[in-house]
Amino acid sequence: MAVTINTLRDYKEKGEAFAVLTAYDAAFAQVVSEAGVDAILIGDSLGMVLQGKDSTLPVTMDDICYHTRSVAAGNRGALIMADMPFMSYGTIPDALENAARLMRAGAHMVKLEGTDWMKDTITALSERGVPVCAHLGLTPQFVNKFGGYKVQGREEKQAELMIEHASELVAAGADVILLECVPAPLAARITQAVQAPVIGIGAGRDTDGQVLVLHDMLGIPEGRKAKFVKNFLEEGGSIPGAIKAYVKAVRERTFPSEEHTFK
Ligand code: KIV
Ligand code: NA
Repeated sequence: MAVTINTLRDYKEKGEAFAVLTAYDAAFAQVVSEAGVDAILIGDSLGMVLQGKDSTLPVTMDDICYHTRSVAAGNRGALIMADMPFMSYGTIPDALENAARLMRAGAHMVKLEGTDWMKDTITALSERGVPVCAHLGLTPQFVNKFGGYKVQGREEKQAELMIEHASELVAAGADVILLECVPAPLAARITQAVQAPVIGIGAGRDTDGQVLVLHDMLGIPEGRKAKFVKNFLEEGGSIPGAIKAYVKAVRERTFPSEEHTFK
């Protein structure tokens, strides 16, 4: 049966962890969905992973639409989430028009990076039938404002603000929250505070779901990897095996472990 937003809500209610991965093409979308991943993200990480850029900022609507169509063609029942790229939701009319393009390309939900300024945008999308995931914490489209890729919410004041923002965005209509690179105790507090399912990356094991970038968890390219990344190909033995090992580890909450977590 196809995964819907209700499936993710059920997981949260039952306290069962769910697994999300990025994918950008039909072949991987099929492998990932057949391996039991509940949601596929067409992330603007494709700017770095597929295009070799040094940030997500150059990614365009045309890029995400193209990859969303490819993923939708290969998908076997996962929920499809598509990133709205940099400045594609700077105004409400832009957000509506661009979200419509992603939904027509096959997305079931769009993801936006930001804080309380997105409230009205999220309400406008939600009221018109577009489910929204609000991405908080280390939001890579803000790398130039942050002055680098840094863990967010380490100070109590900043942490309280993030909890407030997550609650406000859910009240505004966000169906899912995604937290990137925040200390595990803060991610746990946000997961408790909001009714919407919370997906984490570099956010500890207490969120409702986990997400990783596909290429990262397959260990490509070789070299330095982020603290929160685990190479599942080593134990999985094959690409489908690696993805199944990831799904199992997420469901059993053995991933992420201490070594992948910010305190
Ligand atoms: O673009 C992406 O892949 C993402 C995930 C890292 C959450 O936004
Ligand atoms: Na992204």
